[in-house]
Amino acid sequence: MRIGVLCSGGDAPGMNPCLRSIVRTACICDIEVYGIRRGYEGLLNEEFYPGENGTPIMGMRSVSGLSKVGGTILRSSRSQRFQEPAGVKHAEKILRKYGFDGLITIGGNGTQNGAIDLGSVWDGQIIGIPGTIDNDLYGTDYSFGFDSAVAKATDVLDTLHSTAAAHGRIFVCELMGRKAGWVALYAGIAGGADVILLPEIPYTFESVLEVIEKRNQIGKNFSIIAIAEGAVTKDSAGQSKKKERKVSDISPGMELVRRIDENLKQDVRLVIPGHFQRGGDPTPADRVFCSRLGAMAGELVLKRKFGCMVALQGNSIGAIPLSEVAGKLRMIPQDNEVLKQASLLGISLGE
Ligand code: F6P
Repeated sequence: MRIGVLCSGGDAPGMNPCLRSIVRTACICDIEVYGIRRGYEGLLNEEFYPGENGTPIMGMRSVSGLSKVGGTILRSSRSQRFQEPAGVKHAEKILRKYGFDGLITIGGNGTQNGAIDLGSVWDGQIIGIPGTIDNDLYGTDYSFGFDSAVAKATDVLDTLHSTAAAHGRIFVCELMGRKAGWVALYAGIAGGADVILLPEIPYTFESVLEVIEKRNQIGKNFSIIAIAEGAVTKDSAGQSKKKERKVSDISPGMELVRRIDENLKQDVRLVIPGHFQRGGDPTPADRVFCSRLGAMAGELVLKRKFGCMVALQGNSIGAIPLSEVAGKLRMIPQDNEVLKQASLLGISLGE
């Protein structure tokens, strides 16, 4: 039996240990693994990771030492060509040409949507693995990479406290997560933010100004605001939900800083940790989690399961049909417990 593995979309800390666990499980179960480079783009170009003994077949030695390494040795990409029906059809041809029985797709929403498209033209086994710092994949309680990104974002917020207090400043820290607020919510709580602004709860500038002023009145001369990159104000909620933000656009953090600066006499600064949150090595929790997901994906290949994504369901790793995952975003539900507890902690959510 022969399978391919690819990582696609934004990389997530854990992709390497996940690949390691797939290859190790495959070696034990006598499955040949080809590492496909640069996601769907590499598949279209027939780019394979050099395996062992001059073949593309990956063995234990190909993945040795990867349990703690960030990024992905397979490399990743966002393929424009694969988004066209002709690209998908071509990918199917390549999979047949190399005699693949299955394909494991590691990544977030775009990756698993691509897997669905491929499944509509290819009769091999496709198994998805949820790896994205955004934690916005439907059907799994968590995606790997999220814990590591939260750790990095928390580190930034922790570090800002001392300089904020020293200068009596307001710090606005814009955090990744695309259209969902998971990273901002968790890092905001862990990093002691006074205000957390999320795409799921449109906010008002007035409420943010009020929190800062109240803190000043009780002698807290600094404030830390964690704002998700997808956060929206009540006024703009409808429009910004639809479109994808461009790098050249004014970001929500910039806009908030501008408004604070216009309305208060206090110094305000913007910090955007950006890809710092996605880079670096995975946390121990992510290493264990992605290894469990990888092992389960191997097991599903052996069990001849088709078209599903491995997923954390409670404390167990299960599987969900990819068709149920596709096209859905997992935003923070309004009745989410962590959200409620953030309010109980006195953190303003900008309402
Ligand atoms: O999806 C992961 C992610 O890091 C998002 O949080 C962020 O919006 C986006 O990717 C950044 O993409 P790029 O690496 O293409 O700048």
